[in-house]
Amino acid sequence: MITPATIEQIKNRLDIIDVVGEFVKLKKRGSNYLGNCPFHNEKTPSFTVSPSKELYKCFGCGKSGNTITFVMEHEKIPYVDALRWLAARYNIEIEEAQVSEQQKQQFQTADSLFVINSFAAKFFDNQLFNTEDGQAIGLSYLKERGFREEILKKFQIGYNPQAKDTLAKALVTNQFNKELLPRTGLVAVRNETELVDNYRGRIIFPIHNISGKIIGFGARVIGKAINAPKYINTPENELYLKSKVLYGSYFARTAIDKQDECLLVEGYTDVVSLHQAGIENVVASGGTSLTIDQLRLVKKYTNNLTIIYDGDSAGVKAALRGLDMALEEGLNVRLVLIPDNEDPDSYVNKVGTAAFQQFIKDNKKDFIIFQLEVMLKDAGNDINQKNILVNHVAETISKINKAEDFIKQQAYIKQCAAILKIDEGGLITLVNKLKRDKVAKDDKKAAAAEINYQNEFEQYPEQQEEQTLFVSQDEKHERNIIRVLLEYGLHSFSETQTIADHVFSEINSFPFESPEMIKMLDLYKSQYEQGLQPTTKTFLYFEDHTIRDLAISITLFPYELSSNWDKMYEGKTITNTDTKDMDVLMSVNYYKLKKLKKMFDQNQADMEVASIDNQLLLLRIHMELKEVEREITKKLGTVILK
Ligand code: GTP
Ligand code: MN
Repeated sequence: MITPATIEQIKNRLDIIDVVGEFVKLKKRGSNYLGNCPFHNEKTPSFTVSPSKELYKCFGCGKSGNTITFVMEHEKIPYVDALRWLAARYNIEIEEAQVSEQQKQQFQTADSLFVINSFAAKFFDNQLFNTEDGQAIGLSYLKERGFREEILKKFQIGYNPQAKDTLAKALVTNQFNKELLPRTGLVAVRNETELVDNYRGRIIFPIHNISGKIIGFGARVIGKAINAPKYINTPENELYLKSKVLYGSYFARTAIDKQDECLLVEGYTDVVSLHQAGIENVVASGGTSLTIDQLRLVKKYTNNLTIIYDGDSAGVKAALRGLDMALEEGLNVRLVLIPDNEDPDSYVNKVGTAAFQQFIKDNKKDFIIFQLEVMLKDAGNDINQKNILVNHVAETISKINKAEDFIKQQAYIKQCAAILKIDEGGLITLVNKLKRDKVAKDDKKAAAAEINYQNEFEQYPEQQEEQTLFVSQDEKHERNIIRVLLEYGLHSFSETQTIADHVFSEINSFPFESPEMIKMLDLYKSQYEQGLQPTTKTFLYFEDHTIRDLAISITLFPYELSSNWDKMYEGKTITNTDTKDMDVLMSVNYYKLKKLKKMFDQNQADMEVASIDNQLLLLRIHMELKEVEREITKKLGTVILK
C-alpha cells in the first residue's frame, strides 16, 4: 500500500498537460488544450484537457477523468500501478504504508488461495503422471483424445483420484488453513468436520490469470457425463471472478499480440487442442455469453476477435448475445461455425492444422452478415419484420467504424442486399441518407466544439443538453448542494461555522432523495467529520470511479443550474451569482424551496383524501410550510408568486 502522503505528493506534482501530452499531440485553445482522442478513432479533435481543472474530457466518445485515470486507461493498468507509474515519472520515492486490517485480510485470503491452488495443481499433476490410477484412468483418457504429454504439462492439466479425500488429506497434512480450504472449491466439509474432495475421478484444468497464477479449476468427468455435470468449476471467490476470466489468456497473450487476432472458442479442450496444433492465439469463454470484462481483456491485445463455435444453436445464441457490446468496444468481430457436430477440438484433430486454418480463413463471416442471416431466418415471411430488418442493417452499415473504408461498405451493401433479396440501389440510398444525417450531426457538433473551445468546458452546449436529459430537476438541486460543498465547504461562513457546517444545518430537515447524491453527501460528511478536508480534488481522485465520474460531472457543469433558476422561478431574475456567499445562499435556499414545493404538493394531495380532523392538521402544516417559504423568499430577496 502506498501511503497517503506519497499519494498526496504525487498528486501535487502532476501536470496533466505533461502527462497527457506524452501520448496525445495537444494544441492550446483558449485556456484549454485540444487533441485527437486516444480512446476512439477521430479525425477532428474533440479531446479537451483543462490544466486549471486538471481534467480531460472527450466530447466525441465522452471519456473523461483526471491525470491518474488517464494513465490507468491509456496504459491499461490499475489505480495503484498508475500511481507507481506517475511516481516513477516524477522521481517520487514511494512510501509503503501499513494496510488496514480488512485489506490485509483480503490480501491474505487471496494470497492463501493462490498458495492452495498452486499446491493443488502440483498435486493433480503428480497424480496424473506418477500414480498408477492417474496413468490408467486419467492419462490414458487424455491420450486417447489425442493430447500429448508436453501440452498437458504446459497447461498443468492433472487428475484428482476417485477416492473420497486424497487431496483433502494432503491439504490437511500440509497444514493449510481449514477455514479457507472450502473457498477454493477443491474440497467440501462433510458432517461438520470431515474434509472431502470435490472433483473426484476428474481431469483437472487449472485456470490461470493473465499473469499465469492459478485462480481456479475446471474439473471434467472422464468419459461421458452420466448423472453428473460434465464440468465442475471453481465457485466465485476472492480470486475467481467468472465474468473476468478467459481460459488460456495467459498462454495466448503473446500470440494474440503478434497475430493481431484473438480466436475465441467455448471449451477448455478446444483451447488445449488448438495450442497443440500450433494455433496459440486462442482463449475460451466457458460456454456462456461474453461479458464486457472479457471483451475488454481481449481488446487490450487486439481489435480483431474471431469467434469459433460449433454449429449448435445454444453456442451461437450465446455468442450473439455478447456481440453488441463487442461493437461498442470497437472490436471487429467475425464468426465461424464448425460444421457437422464437431467442435474446434475434434475438428482440428480430424482435419489437421493447415486445413483447420484454411477453414477458418474461408468461413470467417463478418458479424453483421452473420447476424443478418440469423435475423432473416427469424423474420420468415413477415413483411413488417423484414422492413425493420432492412432499416436495422442500413443503420449498422452506416455506422461502420471505418466510414472512410468505402470499398468495405460497398461490399456490405452488396452482400446484405443479396441476402435480403432487395434492390442494391435502394439500400445504398438508405445507407447514404443515414450517413448524411450522421455527418450533418457530426459537423454541427464539430462546429459547436470549435466555438466553445475558446470558453470553459462547462459551456459546451451539447454536453449540457445531455446532462439535462439524465438529471432530474430535483437531483439538479441536490447536485448543486454537493457542488457548493466541494467548491467551498471548507471556507468560513461565519466566525464559528464553515460553509459546510452551514449547509449541513440548513438542509438537515430536507433530506436528499437521489441515491447517488446521498452517497456523495454521506461521503463528504464522513470525510469532513474525520477532518480530512475534502475538496473537489479529493473526490476527483477517489479510487471508486462512480464517485470520480459524479464529481467530474458536478464540477464540469456547475452553471447549468443557475442559468435555469430564473426560468424555474418565473422571471424572478437573480443577478450577482458570482460571489461565493450569494452562491451558497441561493443554492441552499432554492434547494429548500424545491423540496418545500414537493411538500406542498404532497400536503395538497393528502388533504383531498383526508378526514375533517386530519384536514385541519394538514392545513396547519400547510400554513407552517408557507411560513418557511416566506422566510426563504425573504432571504432571497425575491417574491415567489404561486
Ligand atoms: P469436451 O467435451 O471434453 O471436449 O469439453 P469441452 O471443453 O469441449 O466442453 P463443451 O464444449 O461441452 O462445453 C464448453 C465449455 O462449457 C466447457 O469447457 C466448460 O467451461 C463449460 N461447461 C460444459 N459443461 C459444463 C457443465 O456441466 N458445468 C459447467 N459449470 N460448465 C460446463
Ligand atoms: Mn469438446
